Amino acid sequence: MCGIVGYIGKKNTKEILLEGLKELEYRGYDSAGIAVLQHDNFESYKAVGKLVNLEEKTKDFITQDFAVGIGHTRWATHGKPTELNAHPHLGESSYVVHNGIIENYAKLKKELMSEGVTFLSQTDTEVIVHLFEKNLKSASSALEAFTKTISQLHGAYAILLVTKSEDESIFFAKHGSPMLVGIDAQNDKYFASSDTPLIGHCTDVNYFEDGDYGYVSPNAIVIFDKDGNKKNPRFTKLTQNKLSAQKNGFRFFMEKEIYEQSDVITDTLLGRLSDEGIVFDELDASLFDGINEIKLCACGTSYHSALSATYLFERYAKIKTSVEVASEFRYRSPIMSKDTLFVVISQSGETADTLETLKMAKAAGLKTLVICNVDNSSMVRLADACILTRAGVEKGVASTKAFATQVMVFWMLSMYVAKLKNSLDAKEIAKQIALMRQVPLSTKVSDVTHEHIKRLSKRYLHGHGFFFIGRDIFYPLALEGALKLKEISYLHAEGYPSGEMKHGPIALADPELFTIALLPQHLLYEKAKSNVEELSARDSTICAISALEFDKADDFIPISSCQDYMLEFFEMMVVLQLLSLEISVRLGNDVDMPRNLAKSVTVE
Ligand code: M6R
Repeated sequence: MCGIVGYIGKKNTKEILLEGLKELEYRGYDSAGIAVLQHDNFESYKAVGKLVNLEEKTKDFITQDFAVGIGHTRWATHGKPTELNAHPHLGESSYVVHNGIIENYAKLKKELMSEGVTFLSQTDTEVIVHLFEKNLKSASSALEAFTKTISQLHGAYAILLVTKSEDESIFFAKHGSPMLVGIDAQNDKYFASSDTPLIGHCTDVNYFEDGDYGYVSPNAIVIFDKDGNKKNPRFTKLTQNKLSAQKNGFRFFMEKEIYEQSDVITDTLLGRLSDEGIVFDELDASLFDGINEIKLCACGTSYHSALSATYLFERYAKIKTSVEVASEFRYRSPIMSKDTLFVVISQSGETADTLETLKMAKAAGLKTLVICNVDNSSMVRLADACILTRAGVEKGVASTKAFATQVMVFWMLSMYVAKLKNSLDAKEIAKQIALMRQVPLSTKVSDVTHEHIKRLSKRYLHGHGFFFIGRDIFYPLALEGALKLKEISYLHAEGYPSGEMKHGPIALADPELFTIALLPQHLLYEKAKSNVEELSARDSTICAISALEFDKADDFIPISSCQDYMLEFFEMMVVLQLLSLEISVRLGNDVDMPRNLAKSVTVE
């Protein structure tokens, strides 16, 4: 999704902005731009497509003295990905960049146009700069005009604005979209919509809260809260570890992240397993007092991990659990009772639909918990309690290690609740914990398996579609396998419960219909096998993934023999991720930045 950077200082402003935008590339974008004000003169450059296009356009542009600059990567929402629609947007003597959506932009635009303002773009963002300049005419200062402008906007936004009328400041506002400001050793100021562009520059950062607005100048960071009260910045230390943001020799971030799963799961488990039970220092055990039900809400891959959790919670913790797609939950007038623990799951912690369900649950007085990968994200700050998944920075748009660590946390949480509610005896909990310790091994990528999948992938580049099928907790895994393939190969794929095929989908079976069958040895093996045999009898091409050989399969990907279905789950997860990766590579697609997708979906 869109990314924002900003800088005030004497260093090379252009380079800082471009480097910052590069760090945000992984979020997905279709155009980019910068605007720099130096010596009372604005220069702005925009380009459609990848950042190299913007770099090319700015190659003769030099910034070496004091300057203020803002930059943006845009993922189109209102208006096509064109240069005119790319940010920054210009008024007469001001520029603005914006993430989010201005919901009342059409009304504002109509009013401004009736007053003679000319719009160049189709974006909602452009109204901000024209509204600001209109307000400036009757205001005593740029801050007053900016404050009035913000009060007229409805929707979600993170905004940076620079204007000649206050040529040593950047004005900012945050409401519903993330934004932070950092300072470096020389007291230069940097803005960004997430941490990564600031790593290596800033040691201390302030995360803005919803409703915050104000300005930053060479000697001041002036912040007002939503009620207009001045407040001091609250600086926290920023990690300086950029290593994890590099590809480390892998072809793609996605590939690197698949290989990292074993290590990050070790981190997820760190300090949380004891022989007696699960230790979540971050949770107050009273969180579950009076709780009779768990409601999970999430989107995409996080929804799939949440669906896996329903099986684990009901099986082990014996607690009624349901899951919903966040975008549906938002608008269907759900009944929310106070004996329900409301749990949101999100890699980024910024997904607009999921964040909104969290706000709904809070407003209804429910206890809330977030399972998240990004500390200080909007959801983490909002929820009553938080468990961090510790997956590290995930750059590939197609989520892999985030999913793995989410499922791991859910499995642990099911044991944590099982102990609290006495639904499992100590022996069974100890057995499960012993199994958990084996997950880092189950998720280690085997060279042999990867090579086998690489070769096999060439047989799956055509056809009229894929069915990924599994039973029980392997059904959400099948859904996730299908989503991975869809996202990066652009081939049609669906996930189905194996037993459901005979109720309709089997009509599609023929040799050009590829079935990826999940056949765990330790969970409903015979049942799942019969379902696959039904497809095989109708000539569907079958690729089976199992520890047990299966003679009806056209292709077979073996996994190790192990003691439990959860270990099979994690090993099959890796197989599915590698299969999608290798199919996508053969099709020549951009694995890390698939078309039409964004890493963090901060619009509804
Ligand atoms: O950051 P979140 O986990 O809230 O994101 C939710 C989905 O947008 C995300 O999982 C999406 O489906 C990924 N592209 C999956 O690979």
